[in-house]
Order: sequence, then structure tokens, then C-alpha cells
Amino acid sequence: MSRKLRSAAWFGGTGKDAFIHRSWMKNQGHPDDMFEGRPVIGICNTASDLTPCNAHFRQLVEPIKRGIYEAGGFPVEFPVFSCGESNLRPTAMMFRNLASMDVEEAIRGNPIDGVVLLCGCDKTTPSLVMGAASCDLPSIVLSGGPMLSGWHNGKKVGSGTDVWRLSEDVRAGVISMDEFLSAEASMSRSPGHCMTMGTASTMASMVEALGLSLPGNAAIPAVDARRAKLAHLTGRRIVEMVNEDLRLSKVLTRDAFENAVKVNGAIGGSTNAVVHLLAIAGRVGVDFTLDDWDRFGRDVPTLANLMPSGEHLMEDFYYAGGIPALMKRIEDRLQLGALTVNGRTIGENIAEAQVWNNDVIRTLDQPLVDEGGLVVLRGNLAPDGAVLKPSAATPDLLEHRGRAVVFDTIEDYKARIGDPDLPIDATSVMVLRNCGPKGYPGMAEVGNMGLPPKLLAQGVRDMVRLSDARMSGTAYGTVILHVAPEAAAGGPLALVREGDEIAISVANRSIELLVDAAELDRRRAGWTPPKGLEESGYRGLYRRHVMQADTGADFDFLLGCRGAGIPEESH
Ligand code: FES
Repeated sequence: MSRKLRSAAWFGGTGKDAFIHRSWMKNQGHPDDMFEGRPVIGICNTASDLTPCNAHFRQLVEPIKRGIYEAGGFPVEFPVFSCGESNLRPTAMMFRNLASMDVEEAIRGNPIDGVVLLCGCDKTTPSLVMGAASCDLPSIVLSGGPMLSGWHNGKKVGSGTDVWRLSEDVRAGVISMDEFLSAEASMSRSPGHCMTMGTASTMASMVEALGLSLPGNAAIPAVDARRAKLAHLTGRRIVEMVNEDLRLSKVLTRDAFENAVKVNGAIGGSTNAVVHLLAIAGRVGVDFTLDDWDRFGRDVPTLANLMPSGEHLMEDFYYAGGIPALMKRIEDRLQLGALTVNGRTIGENIAEAQVWNNDVIRTLDQPLVDEGGLVVLRGNLAPDGAVLKPSAATPDLLEHRGRAVVFDTIEDYKARIGDPDLPIDATSVMVLRNCGPKGYPGMAEVGNMGLPPKLLAQGVRDMVRLSDARMSGTAYGTVILHVAPEAAAGGPLALVREGDEIAISVANRSIELLVDAAELDRRRAGWTPPKGLEESGYRGLYRRHVMQADTGADFDFLLGCRGAGIPEESH
């Protein structure tokens, strides 16, 4: 290889600065030849005891390092902010952009020629890809892999999905509290991330569909030896990518995003993928919009029979062939010429893939859902769009008119949902607001509001719900999300009043508040922004700079690729 390495600006030469950069690194026992022209590979590690989905990354990093050494590289592991979904409050999403800044600046400021992004729990994948995309060095993703299937009382239990299901059952009096609590350990019984097709598995599938990982990355269970083998091969490959100067921007093309949207429809993927892919596209400057989600995803059947849309789990998906087999099944719809990190095209990568279980990966003749692509609704209630996942919804509710029951905040919802006198029936539209990017802040996953106990007791299991929030990728229901602009930014959602009629039509992609324009103008004149938008610290920065969901909820000042130019010397 004749190309000059970026890391040579630190480790090359004989001057004082090169002495400093090498000498301190040598306190870790590295021999001299580590600094003589080997590609330096950063391993961006999100391991944390507080992110249980990524805690096993301390072990997974070892085979990556072996692969890097074997291929002639010099591995350097560094920690970055770890956004753990299950613990972080108010929501891990509020920290996605912060983590992406950490990743971007850590890569640019250090002697790094290429990067392995070690991703797992929901927000750790987009935050690392966003940060790396703003640097545009050769980069490859390795996901940590899903947990083994949960089993409880002889039945499969899926991360998240069965939490929602069991908690509704316990509130409806169908199961006891003891049974509910005993499911905790059965659900999470091995290292790895959520093993439903929630946001973590969706984002692992998205990076594979985008071509950012080696084939097979999404589905191999975290504890399967083949996950460690993939880590080893990922380590070897990133060194080759540096030698080939195969940068992220060569992989993250519009064709790659088109493939990802189609795969999202075919896996029944999380609505969270919408904001994450839009944010990633914003970093590389690819022309990819909210409407592309509908345009590319329209008519794509959901084939993966996985919770929350279906009945199986990621372990089953791996045995059935995983993402390569699923992509093979929809290959007629894909951009097969899209380049991937292994230097081959998507078409070449899936050429030999086979489906081994037609119940887990359905055939095109017998899909799980005929039209599974995410739907973008627009209208006077969501001028900049709202999102719905048909594969998780009740078909009869996809064309619906109902009276609004309005919850001004999540606290308002919690205070009133159990009230036996709440004026609500199964045809009502539950409206929750001030839970968007600025309002919550971070647009927490509260959009799938639990139903009123009095209706649960009557056997009602789904209703139309509408909000500017997100919902967990593991959740289900006829839930309209990401309404933009959000209420806290003065969007029309702020103007809805109790008893207003709302009409949604998935066929027409419309969402309308059936109140005349003059009345809405009167209400708008009396609207005042909610309190709390001028907080200090990171929360305040977040609220002042976060953009709306329809463009990915990134910070306005982080858009674009700033490259990996070598910063000024430090001494
Ligand atoms: Fe980490 Fe679900 S909580 S992936």
C-alpha cells in the first residue's frame, strides 16, 4: 500500500511531537513496529454495565483485535457514551446526538485510520453510525447480537413485546402479579440485546441492509460462536478497507437507503428506524426524506414472522437464514448493485442465500402482512408528517373516525387513564401531546399508551392512538407517531380539544382534524408554549437545537459531514 496513513501525522517522523505520541502509547507494551505504517484501527466500544445489552462487548472486542493484528493493523479500543435503552431517563434518545458527537470527535481527534463500530442496544447503533458518518473514514459495523429466545411457562416470551402484553393482562386481571414478575428472568436469559424485531434488531438489520456490516450480522445470537467468528472477520476486513480507502460515503448511497427501507418493511421493523436513518442520511448529505419511507416501502410485504408483528424471535430468524435469506426473497425489489463494506455488492452477497424455514421467513405468496412498509400520513393535524406501522396495527382501525380524548402531558395521561369516569369508548382516538423532541425532551417511547382499564376489562385490546412521541420497536397497536411539527413547537396537535373529531385513512395517507380553519386560527392565537424549554445544561441545549422528527431529530448544528481532517498539534 502506497497511500499515506492518517495516523502517520501522529506516529510518523522523528520530532518531539511524534516522540510524545509514540512514547505514551508504548507504556501499554506495544513494540516499535506497531507505529511503522500499520493502519491504526479504532474500536469504538459502547460496553457498559448500565447498558446490559452491550455488556458482553468486553469479550467481543478480543476476536476483533485478533483479526486486526492478523491483517497487519494496530487495534486501539476506546470507550464512547453508551445509550442504554432500559435505564436511561428521560429516554436514551435524548442522548443519541450527544453520543454521536462523542464518537465523531473521538475519531477525528485521534490517530485513527479506520473504525469498527461496536453497536447493540437501540440508540448505540445510530449514534455510532451518525458520528462516524460525519468523519467519513473507512468504517464497519459489528452488532453485538440478540439474546437467546425467552421462555416462560412453556411459551416463548419476547423482549419488550411480552412486557406490554403481560402488563395489559395483569391490569385486566387475566394473570396474577406473581406470574407477571416471574417472567422477568425468563425473558432476559443471556447476553445480547432485545431478541424481538424491536429497534435494536431493526437497526442491526438496517446496517446490514445498508451494506455497513458483513453479511449475516443482524441475526447471529450474541452467545453463538459464529458471532465471535464474525467479529474476527470484521477485524480483518477493516484493515483491508483502509488499504482500499473504502469510506462510509461510498456505501451510504441513496440506493443503500432504498434497500434499507424495503428491508424494514419486509422485517416489520421498528418505527424508530425512520428517525435514525433520516439522521444518518443528514450526516452524509444523501437526498433521503420522510416521504421516501412511504415511496420505497409501499407495497413491500412483511415476510419475517417475528414479534412484535408475528410470533417468532431473532434466534429463529437466524436459523431460518437471517437478513441475507430475507433479502434474497425480495431481491426483485432491491438495488442489487449497491456496494457493501466487504467490497462486494448486495446482489453478490445474497446470491447463494437460502430460506430454511418458510414459517419464520414467509414466502411472497403467504406474507405475514400484504403491505408492511411504514406509512407516512399527512394532513392538517400533521402537516410535516406522521408515521404508522401497519404490520403492528389492527386492520379494521386503519380507516377510522373518532372523538379525541386529549392528554396534555404524560403526567396527565397517567393521572386520568384509570379514572372510571373518563369519557372514552373503543371508537375514541387517544391523543397524547408535548412528548415530541423538544417537549419530553427526546420524544420518549410513550406513544403506545396503555388502554383504559375499564375498556381492557371489556375485552378491548387496540384503539387508535396518536402522539408526537415515539414507541418502542417491540410494541404494537394502531399507533400514529412522530406527529410533526410537535405540540411543544406549536404544531396543530397543540390545538386539538376534547371531543374534536379526527379522521385517519391509511389508504389515502391522511390524518385530519375535522375542525374548521377559522376555529383553529382562534385556538392558535390563544396558544402559549409549554414551560421548561429554556433549561440550562445539556437538556436545554437539546431542546434549543433538536430538529423535528420528520428530518431525524438531529441537532441543527450537526448536519453534514465534517470529514476527518487532521486537527492542530496538541503541544
Ligand atoms: Fe437494549 Fe432493547 S433494551 S436492545
